[in-house]
Amino acid sequence: MKTRAEKVAELARRGELALAPAGAPALDKQHARGKQSARERIAALVDPGSFSEFDRFVVHRTDGFGLDDREFLGDGVVTGRATIDGRQVFLFSQDFTVLGGSLGEAYAEKICKVMDLAVRTGCPMIGINDSGGARIQEGVASLGGYAEIFWRNVQASGVIPQISLIAGPCAGGAVYSPAITDFVLMTEKISQMFITGPEIIKTVTGEDVTFDDLGGASTHATKSGVAHFVAHDEDDLVDLARSLLSFIPQNNLEDPPRLVCEDDPHRDVPQLDDVIPDAPNKPYDMHDAFVPILDDEDFFEVAALYARNIIVGFGRVDGRSVGIVANQPNVLAGVLDIASSIKAARFVRFCDAFNIPLLTFVDVPGFLPGTDQEFGGIILHGAKLLYAFAEATVPKITVITRKAYGGAYDVMSSKHIRADLNLAWPSAEIAVMGAEGAVKTIFRREIATAADPLARTQELVDEYVERFANPYIAAQRGYVDDVIEARRTRSVVTTALDMLENKRVERPKRKHGNIPL
Ligand code: HXC
Repeated sequence: MKTRAEKVAELARRGELALAPAGAPALDKQHARGKQSARERIAALVDPGSFSEFDRFVVHRTDGFGLDDREFLGDGVVTGRATIDGRQVFLFSQDFTVLGGSLGEAYAEKICKVMDLAVRTGCPMIGINDSGGARIQEGVASLGGYAEIFWRNVQASGVIPQISLIAGPCAGGAVYSPAITDFVLMTEKISQMFITGPEIIKTVTGEDVTFDDLGGASTHATKSGVAHFVAHDEDDLVDLARSLLSFIPQNNLEDPPRLVCEDDPHRDVPQLDDVIPDAPNKPYDMHDAFVPILDDEDFFEVAALYARNIIVGFGRVDGRSVGIVANQPNVLAGVLDIASSIKAARFVRFCDAFNIPLLTFVDVPGFLPGTDQEFGGIILHGAKLLYAFAEATVPKITVITRKAYGGAYDVMSSKHIRADLNLAWPSAEIAVMGAEGAVKTIFRREIATAADPLARTQELVDEYVERFANPYIAAQRGYVDDVIEARRTRSVVTTALDMLENKRVERPKRKHGNIPL
């Protein structure tokens, strides 16, 4: 019979093995690939000493195909709980040194266990992905394992924040778990996401593409919109994740953490008075219009490189988290198109699910015209943003800085779709369309027959601008609650957030709406 000391020694021996289940050379190989180990990643992400691991002695249950004599403690994924800035999170970190981080049945069960705990205790779930996908030797059990994870991702959606850090390959159906999560953070050079790899693509379509061009961080941040953040390296990756978490609550029943605000919430911001150019078609950077009103001018932009004609991200006003949605006149004149509508709609829905007030800055000339857009379904995709704003019940504050034209005026958190406070700067123009377009439509015949068509057009344009290109017609009807000097925006928003602190909205009972997908 073993003595107590021997039993404790046995635990220590197994514990040691679990720390590097594939051995030191495999860890060296991981480092040589320019990647950190699964445990190093957790250590970098969480508060020192806060990680408690589960299931470090779990092993696979598969025979054959070379697995009979290969057993790895932990089965290739490290799971557990920890704290980040003192707040509890659950996490998994895939261990590429074990069978390429491939996912088998026991591995999936470990992930499901922490996901269930995260939901039961109302805490964020963070996944660090570095995996060759389904463990080929485990066949259908592996596919079942993935599907169990996907199902949990869906059940947890809108209940707890889910964040995916991609720090290696993420291939095949494996990408669908990150895709369902709220935010995907990728790392330059070492991470790729794709449904089918370059070899299969070559066979099926004949296209030549590298792993990185196909599914690297830059591709997903700029072209597909799959990635919300790109980290330069793994240190940057965990910094981004920690910053992101600081803006969001633990779960859908809590508010985001409110920080002590050292920055005077009622301070005037005089430079805002000069942000909007006098010429109506002159571009400007919308960041200049809203970043200065945020606490310490601190803005955490989401999906900064994708659909840059709309800006979304987090900031704080008087210590409270807010979600910013803002048209960007510097890119495509700030029009709404398919990509920007989808980008903003998903962000609005995240904020609404997690009790983050929405602060919308509007300068939008309308929807982007063109067959590309129409054939691509701008009707459907533009409607997503309309739907998202309309269904959102968090406090909604809208500031029209310049143009709010046509359908895009309605969509961008207008009063009619139940924004709580709609403000306009004196430079605002709320109208069906811009002056030139309006005049040429209404007075086409008159202009054509005028003695001097150009002069007559200019006269009519001037008349239209005088009459319609201002915020006062909307203000007369109460569509904007007030026209304010730009410099006062921070103070007015602060008061509005106080006013809306206890906002309550009852909605009719239904299973769920049917957002135009
Ligand atoms: C079992 C795997 C594996 C897998 C990699 N390995 N992928 N073992 N199942 N899916 C093993 C390798 O055999 C190797 O083992 C070790 O992991 C490291 O792999 P390398 O190829 O040496 O590494 P690297 O050159 O960095 O290439 C990484 C890789 C490549 C790009 C991920 O391994 C790869 O293409 N793997 C297959 C990817 C794939 O097709 N997966 C299935 C996708 S379909 P040794 O013992 O030699 O170290 C899918 C369906 C999910 O995932 C469905 C969900 C619904």
